[in-house]
Amino acid sequence: MADEQQYDYDVLVIGAGPGGYVAAIRAAQLGLRTACAESRETLGGTCLNVGCIPSKALLHASELYEEATGGHLAKFGVNFQGVSLDLDQMHAEKAKAVKELTGGIEFLFKKNKVTWLKGRAAFQDAHRVEVGGQVVTAKDIVIATGSSVTPLPGVAIDQKVVVDSTGALALPKVPEHLVVIGGGVIGLELGSVWRRLGAKVTVVEYLDQILPGFDGEVRKESAKLFKKQGMDLLTGTKVTGVTVEGDRAQVQVEPAAGGEAQVLAADAVLVAIGRKPNIDGLNLEAAGVALTERGQVGIDHDFRTNVPGIWAIGDVAPGLMLAHKAEDEGVAVAENIAGQTGIVNHDVIPSVVYTMPEIAGVGLSEEAAKAKGEVKVGKFPFMANSRAKTNRDTDGFVKIIADANTDRVLGVWIVSSLAGTMIAQAAQAMEFGATSEDIAYTCHAHPTHSEAVKEAAMAVQGKPIHI
Ligand code: FAD
Ligand code: NAI
Repeated sequence: MADEQQYDYDVLVIGAGPGGYVAAIRAAQLGLRTACAESRETLGGTCLNVGCIPSKALLHASELYEEATGGHLAKFGVNFQGVSLDLDQMHAEKAKAVKELTGGIEFLFKKNKVTWLKGRAAFQDAHRVEVGGQVVTAKDIVIATGSSVTPLPGVAIDQKVVVDSTGALALPKVPEHLVVIGGGVIGLELGSVWRRLGAKVTVVEYLDQILPGFDGEVRKESAKLFKKQGMDLLTGTKVTGVTVEGDRAQVQVEPAAGGEAQVLAADAVLVAIGRKPNIDGLNLEAAGVALTERGQVGIDHDFRTNVPGIWAIGDVAPGLMLAHKAEDEGVAVAENIAGQTGIVNHDVIPSVVYTMPEIAGVGLSEEAAKAKGEVKVGKFPFMANSRAKTNRDTDGFVKIIADANTDRVLGVWIVSSLAGTMIAQAAQAMEFGATSEDIAYTCHAHPTHSEAVKEAAMAVQGKPIHI
């Protein structure tokens, strides 16, 4: 009662991305008087507005286009004639999906009685925040301000020729040559979109392999598949500068280890070298909130910052920058604020790259697992999976890494058209502490791609059936 009189809200969440909007809804469900500050015109954050959702819309649409134009369906007896690209319509359908989903969050806010405070938030002290000209107070405050693109020094983003992911989701025409700086998730997903729509795509990656953080074999297999699809991968290469003249760019590159420089002529350049936490303008100093060495808001296991009553979740805090990680933290932080025990198991967060095939993993890579102890590894290729063979969809494999002594599953990696969906069973098994034997003795429906997970588990014991 005292708090109700003292503060405008029990909980103020700053940022309405997957972390913030979920935290706000959960807090309201738990009976807390909740507000959420968001400066964008629409709710849903990076993910719904300029991230997960529009990128998946273009990935889906461009895949349909490639299927229709690439002649891939002829062997199934499906022939197309006169297929053409209507890029404006593709963008319009993407915008419609975004609008429906962001509108859906607005509906959920109303349903759960979460107050949306429109405007940028800045701390005045640990319980007082200015949002869009008004000052509000709250007992607990959750920082969920997300992240934005890491700039590359010397390369200015103009959103016309040199774009970040937001610009690359809205190119008004298919580039002739798109140079992507960064062979990570954004570069490969959006590079795939524009390659499918007809662009020549060159990915420049500083490291000697694409997709850092993923299992080594998966990184190699993925690179092989992207090259087979016609993407140029310049690994071990750094960009030393980009010059723009009119609607064309010159990208200067040289081997990361030093060596002869070369120039790539392009009509679009995508900078996708990672993302950085959004803390500018929040005035965290006024509240005394401490940052990590990497500029993230520092938190403990329960998402508490160093200041009592201030919490942080999602991309602005340490950990993987993924929407589902932010969402789970949103639920957990609200439960902790309400005095319950909110937990996120950060060892079991799946990662998915939504290319074709999809690339998914959960838990440790083989390299990371080996650094911790003895492991057994089982692998099963989709070439030997009956459904994949029937569908003519045999790229990729399933790989399971288990503790050599306890057989407990430590990591699962899948390269497959359905990897993003299939990885959920691996995450669930790992969350329940499964052994590879548990998976091997679980009945999987036939004929499905998922049988490859069972076979990979059997391969951990050296005894798969179908290979
Ligand atoms: P955000 O979604 O970034 O939301 C933060 C919100 O806070 C923003 O709306 C911002 O406007 C607001 N804000 C910031 N500062 C203030 C302030 N001072 N006052 C008021 N409001 C403020 N992840 C996946 O898991 N799957 C995917 O397929 C995927 N695809 C992606 C594709 C792209 C192109 C990009 C860029 C990212 C993608 N991600 C994906 C990552 C995902 O978008 C993020 O991990 C996720 O959005 C993080 O959620 P968040 O709530 O922490 O922050
Ligand atoms: P990333 O961290 O995935 O990849 C960046 C890549 O750029 C790395 O391979 C890195 O080695 C390389 N790089 C860094 N500096 C470079 C330089 N100067 N020159 C050349 N290469 C350089 O970051 P990305 O792709 O920007 O994505 C940001 C975040 O968004 C990721 O952390 C990811 O979690 C999230 N995201 C998730 C998606 C998904 O879940 N499907 C889709 C898109 C983004």
